Amino acid sequence: MTEVPQPRLRILVTGGAGYIGSHAVARLRRAGHELEVLDHLEQGHRQAIPPDVPLHEVDLRDASAVARVIAAGRFDTVMHFAALISVAESVAFPDRYLENNVGGTRNLIRALEASDTRRLVFSSTAAVYGVPQKVPIDETFPIAPVNPYGESKALAERALRDWADTDPRRSLAILRYFNVAGASQDASLGEDHEPETHLVPNVLRSAVEGSTPMTVYGQDYPTPDGTCVRDYIHVEDLVDAHAHVLERLGAGDRYCFNLGIGRGFSVQEVIQTAEAVTGRSIPVVYGPRRDGDVAELRSDPGRIEAQLGWRAKVRELRPMLESAWNWMRAHPRGHREV
Ligand code: UFG
Repeated sequence: MTEVPQPRLRILVTGGAGYIGSHAVARLRRAGHELEVLDHLEQGHRQAIPPDVPLHEVDLRDASAVARVIAAGRFDTVMHFAALISVAESVAFPDRYLENNVGGTRNLIRALEASDTRRLVFSSTAAVYGVPQKVPIDETFPIAPVNPYGESKALAERALRDWADTDPRRSLAILRYFNVAGASQDASLGEDHEPETHLVPNVLRSAVEGSTPMTVYGQDYPTPDGTCVRDYIHVEDLVDAHAHVLERLGAGDRYCFNLGIGRGFSVQEVIQTAEAVTGRSIPVVYGPRRDGDVAELRSDPGRIEAQLGWRAKVRELRPMLESAWNWMRAHPRGHREV
């Protein structure tokens, strides 16, 4: 998507040192916006933020610190990425997800209520749909999460809608991500979680390590090859959608969009493509299903295209894995090494 000149906005990016947030910071900075980041750096990396972007090392659970950042910042917009993101962790420790994802969002909302900041773009997830009755999934599907992670995002969506609806000047965009993958084309930013639970980095890590197999969680799903099917979207497309939405989000607007490409790839297909990209064979062991997983998630991405004319550019797995592989080779120890 072309980067059209826009009025310079003051934007607070929560979670801006994380995987998706840091790509968003890079994209919005290129568009000329003035940015600040709020991140407690428990998962995020200081090195993932450009040195000229101010960082508030604040935990969203700390209501008074959040209120101070919002009051002092006079932001036009908040982009709210900060959250815990692991389905499996949420099943084991549901309270963490309520405290961080719902409680953190409520602290943000209270701070916004006391300020003139009236626009918010929210990182939500396909996990709010739970086990869909059919695929592809569009935005009118029922909200029926099946794990505490999805529940926490559904509750945060609800709290944000209530915030937006109590003042007609407020605007809100809820973006429901499918499976985000890849790294920046210049290999300066990539996915670096500790512990890493996501499929793509785990597959590539096994390609690097050779002897350490990756585990495929379940081969008995009702899918063509028995492994789970997901809709992968390149992280640079994902953040481009955020910039596109932001530039069109007028006073009083409400948007809710799926962000995916509308195609499904199985775990097995991801492994095969990774072998082709890396030129290495990837050792695999087959384990039981992972708690909270759903057989198939695939988006109908038609609404954002119809309403805002935006569509993901990367339509294949291979370039997503190539960019992730380039990042991993350039940064064998992730951001810690920089
Ligand atoms: N998988 C493996 N082995 C691994 C890691 C993952 O087999 O080592 C499988 C999972 O069981 C799943 C698929 O690969 O079937 C994708 O798993 P990820 O952990 O990469 O992603 P999820 O689908 O669990 O979750 C991601 C985001 C969620 C979002 C969801 C929506 O983390 O926030 O996509 O599609 F809700």
